[in-house]
Amino acid sequence: MRVPEAQIAQILGRTDIVEVVGEYTALRQRSGRFWGLCPFHSEKTPSFTVSADKAAFYCFGCGKGGGVTQFVMDVEGLSFPEALRALAERAGIELEAERGPSDAVSRREYVELNSRIAATFHHLLRTHEQAAPARDYLQERGIGSGAVADFQLGWAPAASGWLLRFLHGKQYSDRFLSQTGLFVAPREAAGGASQGLRGLFRARLMFPIASARGEVIAFGGRTLAGEGVPKYVNSAETPFFRKNEQLFGLDRARALLRAGGAGDASGARPPSVVVVEGYTDVIALAGLGVPAVATLGTAFGAAHARLLKRQGFSATVMFDADDAGRTAALRALRVLAQHEVPAAVAPLPPGSDPADLVAAGNDAQLQRVLESPITASRYTIQTACAGTDLSTAEGKEQAFAALLPYLLEVDSAITREGLLQEVAEQLRLDYDTVRTEFRRRAVGGGARRAGPAGRAAAGGRADAGGTAAAGAELRLMLAVAVNRGQFSVVRDRLDADELQDDRARALYIVLEDCFRHEQSDPDNLLRRIESDELRALVAQKLAVDEFSVNVEAYVAGGVRRVKSHALERKRDRLMERVRRAEHEGSTEAISELLADKIFLDSELNKLRGEAVSR
Ligand code: UTP
Ligand code: MN
Repeated sequence: MRVPEAQIAQILGRTDIVEVVGEYTALRQRSGRFWGLCPFHSEKTPSFTVSADKAAFYCFGCGKGGGVTQFVMDVEGLSFPEALRALAERAGIELEAERGPSDAVSRREYVELNSRIAATFHHLLRTHEQAAPARDYLQERGIGSGAVADFQLGWAPAASGWLLRFLHGKQYSDRFLSQTGLFVAPREAAGGASQGLRGLFRARLMFPIASARGEVIAFGGRTLAGEGVPKYVNSAETPFFRKNEQLFGLDRARALLRAGGAGDASGARPPSVVVVEGYTDVIALAGLGVPAVATLGTAFGAAHARLLKRQGFSATVMFDADDAGRTAALRALRVLAQHEVPAAVAPLPPGSDPADLVAAGNDAQLQRVLESPITASRYTIQTACAGTDLSTAEGKEQAFAALLPYLLEVDSAITREGLLQEVAEQLRLDYDTVRTEFRRRAVGGGARRAGPAGRAAAGGRADAGGTAAAGAELRLMLAVAVNRGQFSVVRDRLDADELQDDRARALYIVLEDCFRHEQSDPDNLLRRIESDELRALVAQKLAVDEFSVNVEAYVAGGVRRVKSHALERKRDRLMERVRRAEHEGSTEAISELLADKIFLDSELNKLRGEAVSR
């Protein structure tokens, strides 16, 4: 979904950041700004501040900052379009992008229908005599009425066409219903006549699937009939429901974590959710107060990891203790590591799933497993070693070969060293032997990427003079980011490539972009800044109204300073070329270069004159 710029401006224009933030933490006005306890980390005295004028927030405690969309993204764990949608809803604006062609179902209508059906199915599960086996099954699985209500579990009646008739009765058209993922249109009969819609869910225990914000967007349905039909059926994919981008239980897990306070008090450890295989596992764990999520019957993939990352969660993987479960767990751990989601494994006793343990009343055992998870690396190593005879050199060789792909994937030298030590321990080998062998194979295998450390070092600046100039550049660009009216002064006299500092240049480019699009609100600026660190820095300056005194003089002085640094650098480069030309004896080139130098010198003199005359 792409929201047009004009509509973003409309949404932001109707949004009051103080009101939005105020829903998450109490704000008090003090010296022109608002202060409150930070919603992103726990603290006892307020270090979180919001500027109403500048529409920005910043926390001096944890360094989070940005505009109102950034706030909603962070606090609700939403993507940018999702945050915009939430703000649009608040402001009573319907997003153009979601209106689509005139007969397309809007997201609002879609969610409304799914929620309505969830409520209906839920009612039927509790009251319908046909649903008695489903109620028995839930009881057997240790899922009590509290959990049934919390997850709004339901019953889809057995009668074919029941849901279709019910919804026709509520005046929904076939055209509308065909876009909901709840029905399929069977292939047209040979004669060409359409057979109408067929419902996907008949005689099934229904699990509503909710977005991270708790909107029902699809269903999973479990049969109780045993053989002959697929055990689970999910809603078909729609523009609002992509199976691989949802985690069952995420909304409930968030609610549980919010109620229990996020993470440990110091904020050092991110709040953890348990990743399990089945819907019933999620519900059983939630019943114990343990936040859990499951994929919708597919492997745990990149989009799932991103979902957890966005929420700031770490993961404890708790898959079935069979071969399939172990393979799936290893895969999940790799995906989580690739997305930098901290992960561990809680290994179950063989042959059980979490729901089984809860059903059998083994809560304590389950809690024990959860309280002492093993690290992802240890689990990976143990799994690779399982089934090989480690008392023989051959077995060790085999296990090492199985581990190599994992070892090669690790970018951080520190993590890798830790892993190699663990490998040595598990395989009962000498650490140096393991390290030498790894190096030999890693080089042979070739494909090592340049780590992020290498890139950072290459981009670093060397001399102290350069650093001072860079500081002046950054301060100037921050001053105009906070006082947008002043940007035209800067762009009249400086080009982006005259800036040496990466951050100053990045700011110049986004400010120019906003300038051309005539966007003067801070949120548009902030969301264009790619680096989290730079965004927070700008948000900080906005939220505290830095550079608010004597701005014109400050900016004019800054422009002069930066411009003269740039001219001096240009002149240095020119002189270098003059020396080279002299060395080569090309007189023509020398006179051309010297003409350039005279021009540069006069520019520099002009700048110095300006400085004196003020
Ligand atoms: P399970 O077979 O363990 O189902 O599959 P369950 O929900 O735990 O129910 P019990 O244990 O039989 O009571 C785990 C998950 O795999 C997916 C579902 O998401 C299920 O929750 N699955 C399973 C399917 O998508 N299709 C299937 O046919 C089976
Ligand atoms: Mn199961």
